[in-house]
Amino acid sequence: AGQKVADTLGYSVFIIGGFVRDLLLLTPTQDLDFVVEGNGHAFAQALFEELGSGQLTLHEQFGTARIEFPDETHLDVAGTRWEYYEYPGALPQVEESRLRDDLFRRDFTINAMALAINSEHYGELVDFYGGLRDLKQGEIRFIHHLSFIEDPTRILRAIRFAERYGFQLSKETLEGVETALKAGVLKKVSIERFTQEILLMLHEKHFPKMGESLVELGVFEEWFGEKLPWNFARVAENENLTLEERWLISVSNFNFQETEQVLGLKLTKELRKETLKFKEIQAILYAQPSLSLAVLDQQLVGVSQEIRSALKWDPVLNEAVSSYEEAVAQLKLGVNGKVLLQFGVPKGPEIGNVLKEVRLAWLEQRIHTSAEEKEFVLR
Ligand code: CTP
Repeated sequence: AGQKVADTLGYSVFIIGGFVRDLLLLTPTQDLDFVVEGNGHAFAQALFEELGSGQLTLHEQFGTARIEFPDETHLDVAGTRWEYYEYPGALPQVEESRLRDDLFRRDFTINAMALAINSEHYGELVDFYGGLRDLKQGEIRFIHHLSFIEDPTRILRAIRFAERYGFQLSKETLEGVETALKAGVLKKVSIERFTQEILLMLHEKHFPKMGESLVELGVFEEWFGEKLPWNFARVAENENLTLEERWLISVSNFNFQETEQVLGLKLTKELRKETLKFKEIQAILYAQPSLSLAVLDQQLVGVSQEIRSALKWDPVLNEAVSSYEEAVAQLKLGVNGKVLLQFGVPKGPEIGNVLKEVRLAWLEQRIHTSAEEKEFVLR
């Protein structure tokens, strides 16, 4: 559809950035970025009509457009910059090297390739900066030396891409990161953007390695002003964790003050709440003289699966929480408030107390069958 629209409008159109990188790596990506040498809005409008699905949003201010699809993927369209950057006098040179310029502004060589889609040039790779070579070599390389100074979040992006693909930072790029960090560039980054980058990492299977890189390069120390006892090694033991589990396990060695420190990030409300709850339960359980099923049940009923899982990854609590979960899985509680009333338990708080006792008896395997349960209640 893109090709048809590009040809009809007579625009040169390229797919650019992450999609091209992942296509060459043969890893699936969903979101598409188009750069159009022409009017981006006109292209997006025509493409939208051609596709006949999704929702089109035009951003007047930036000259960009987005089409969002029901499956939550999207495609972005940018007209070439000379169309909407109107500095008087700047036009002629910019016009000459529109695509080269657009690509030069990007972060890494592997993200700065474009693929022509017009029928005349279909599938031609535009690679001014050696992106294909770096993909083959497995290197993350900046395009120009000021890259990290201009946009310090690229320091975190470099780590994210490197660990995602098992790549190295090129020597110069690593030096660029170190120089930028020494110069204190992170101070220019807002909490929102820093948090955003951390959340993007938390979505990734190789998050623990990213976390370790952040520690090794001193990014976290620079950001939080102190060395925190992050627990990435344990997260690494299982790659199939959810974002919440990855986060909770990572902070499981933190004391309350250290936890407060990282909660200065603008995490989602839910993740913040879960973190506090997790630390609270962890502290309560640490303080118990013994982790009986009754104690565990009192603390863990109604607690999210993520928190329970994170508790299980805590070496101190692992055994107790695991056996508790096994006991809960065996539980076949048959009675409820109504049934207890029929059994003659008086209305009021007594019902709740009896229910608790029955539940505990099941957990402690003093009850095994519904007949035993009934007998227990009647007694
Ligand atoms: N980009 C950049 N500097 C940034 C953010 C983005 O140069 N700080 C450029 C890169 O060329 C990138 C493109 O914008 O390819 C799109 O950014 P984004 O969607 O964040 O990255 P993707 O490369 O698509 O990565 P991901 O696979 O993580 O979505």
